[in-house]
Amino acid sequence: MSVHSMPVGSDAEVAGRVDALIAGMTTAEKAGQLTQYFYFDLPPAGEAADQASGGAEAPGPGFDGHGITVDEALGRGQVGSLLFVTDPAQINRLQRRAIEGSRHGIPVLFGFDVIHGLRTIFPVPIAMAASWDPGAIEQGQAVAAREARAVGIHWAFAPMVDIARDPRWGRIVEGAGEDPYLAAAVAAAQVRGFQGAGPGAPGRVISGPKHFAGYGAALGGRDYDEVNLSDSELWNVYLPPFKAAVDAGAENIMTAYMDLNGVPATGNHWLLTEVLRDTWGFGGFLVSDAQAVHNLRTHGFAADLADAGARALRAGVDMEMAVGNPAYAHLPEAIEAGLADEETLDACVRRVLTAKVRIGLLDQPYVDEDQARAVLADPAHRAAARQAAQRSAVLLRNEGGLLPLASPSSIAVIGPLADSRRDTLGPWVFDFDLDETVTVLDGIRNRAGHGAEVGYAPGIRPAQRVFPSMFDMFANNAPADPEGFDDDAELARAVALARASDVAVVVLGEWQNMIGEAASRSSLELPGGQLALLQAVVATGTPVVLLVMNGRPLDLRWAAANVPAILDIWYPGTQGGAAMADLIFGDAAPGGKLPFTWPRTVGQVPLVYSHTISHEPVNQGRRYWDEESTPLFPFGYGLSYGRFEYRDLTLDRDRIQAGQTVTASVTVTNAGDRAGDEVAQVYIHQRHGTASRPVRELKGFERVALAAGETRTLSFALGPAELRYWNAAARDWVIDATTIDVFAGGDSAAGLTASFTVTG
Ligand code: NOJ
Repeated sequence: MSVHSMPVGSDAEVAGRVDALIAGMTTAEKAGQLTQYFYFDLPPAGEAADQASGGAEAPGPGFDGHGITVDEALGRGQVGSLLFVTDPAQINRLQRRAIEGSRHGIPVLFGFDVIHGLRTIFPVPIAMAASWDPGAIEQGQAVAAREARAVGIHWAFAPMVDIARDPRWGRIVEGAGEDPYLAAAVAAAQVRGFQGAGPGAPGRVISGPKHFAGYGAALGGRDYDEVNLSDSELWNVYLPPFKAAVDAGAENIMTAYMDLNGVPATGNHWLLTEVLRDTWGFGGFLVSDAQAVHNLRTHGFAADLADAGARALRAGVDMEMAVGNPAYAHLPEAIEAGLADEETLDACVRRVLTAKVRIGLLDQPYVDEDQARAVLADPAHRAAARQAAQRSAVLLRNEGGLLPLASPSSIAVIGPLADSRRDTLGPWVFDFDLDETVTVLDGIRNRAGHGAEVGYAPGIRPAQRVFPSMFDMFANNAPADPEGFDDDAELARAVALARASDVAVVVLGEWQNMIGEAASRSSLELPGGQLALLQAVVATGTPVVLLVMNGRPLDLRWAAANVPAILDIWYPGTQGGAAMADLIFGDAAPGGKLPFTWPRTVGQVPLVYSHTISHEPVNQGRRYWDEESTPLFPFGYGLSYGRFEYRDLTLDRDRIQAGQTVTASVTVTNAGDRAGDEVAQVYIHQRHGTASRPVRELKGFERVALAAGETRTLSFALGPAELRYWNAAARDWVIDATTIDVFAGGDSAAGLTASFTVTG
């Protein structure tokens, strides 16, 4: 029997084991079960550990703030969970300590930020969303789960399902973009990938969608800032991905840092209990974000730490993720003072212990270190990552069919990001292997072999962040400033190389430490001297292929007008360079589509395709200001090597009653002369009703591979789930009597249309 397939028993047996444990526990032991500590293996930490955990008063790694270390707290049976340990030997050591130290022998859960891979790094989440391929997304997280479980991690703090509509917010890279329908599909696929048939199944982990809820709407795009969302936005836009994740069976949810409409999310009973548990039936356990319970005091919400712990507990937070000095350590005194009751405490402990039993932890707490090594080395994981990177790239421009490259005899690869292993992986990875990471330069060299001469010139030095990153405590996070780098000479060398080559592949974007948590930007411009480098290379007259390495839309106005081929490669992961070579040379075809509206400039944000309209346009295109009102690239946009034509949008009926379903069918043909992938998309617009609804809303999509000349007819159901919406005046879900326009095509500007009537 595999070590992770221990039978955990029926629900009644699980409940029996849990209740027997609770019956023998002291209040302090219960509070300990509800406490999760960071355990950094990083010397030295101190201040850095505090910052990385988003909170205050961190006394350093492995220290609980009560004058004892986490090791000591483990020895007293007062730790429920640890995070940030990835070494199986260390996990076994800490686990032994927990079991031997606890009077009840209760093991700890190990949690970690397994966001886009553990050892094998997949493209960043926004890139995976750009694949519009739930199957590939599920497979990617299944690989991540297998690696995580093999080293002893039971629980991934993922997916991040926060809708992001402001690209200044750095965490846009961790989510699925702006649209609730796409994000819901991506959220469900990720939960399925992590948990499979259940987290107790072999190679699976608990999935913890985060951050509940509304965190992506941070005011001004400033991370952690307040969030004020209308009722309509909350229900129609920000909550649906969480609902989809809960419906997919997610066994954990993480709370958000900020206050939502004035009430801190982590102390928000309405959100955590009334919506999540009572309305949606969430049966798993809730964890706070790091230090977020403690922060209830910082918010000016709780009076002190005992009050903070009691308020979070009463709101529904089962476990506190603590950097140090946990508020939940004060629960015994809070209960003593009548701020919370033992019954609520027991309910939380029951949910945490149930998760431990269900994942098989009580039966098999240790991990097989040899097996872990074998799983991490599995070549099938690298193959899956390569395919995922191919599928997530978005071809933004391809004038004259420059891509795929037609056997150039010389290629200039230009830009410091072209050969940066760390940046190729992207943010939110910690356990990667740089040696096996394939950069764009590596990928092109390997693929070109002896067939073409490949030259490389960075052209400029790496740009540095304006403020240091909180992740700089981890090795390789900030790019090294190369010694003896002569700026003028290097620029001249890059230009000369481009001039002497048949084609130039220029890789530009943001360094990975410029995006992610606490990485907001006030500008979307290419940092450093990258635009000048691009302009100098284009001026040589050599055809340029621009690869954009990013997790947010950047200001590409100049490139979109002057560079013939632009491929958005995101942060493509361990096999990123190999995958990009596959695409550039035509061994695979790009087919990703943008999961966000790409603005021209930061001044336009937030800019979403699914806006409402209040006034007939005075000028064509809603132009009331000093910039076009249109985006640079619309939501859902992306090209391939095929050329797709849509026709015959038909509806199986032109009139339904509310509650019934219309099936829309559309025919797609690859009219180009190469095979390619297309994501067919269906949008709706409600003409009138009891609220004003967006001009377009995505309600269906399917990614298909079509050979040259091939035709497929695709069908999409438009039923109650697609037609209902939350009406803020009725304070309920409604389906209006109305006329619905349906649009089908390859992006949110799709022109093919039909309509049907909904009667009441
Ligand atoms: C803070 C982040 O907001 C959250 O997403 C993450 O899971 C925790 N830190 C743990 O690293």
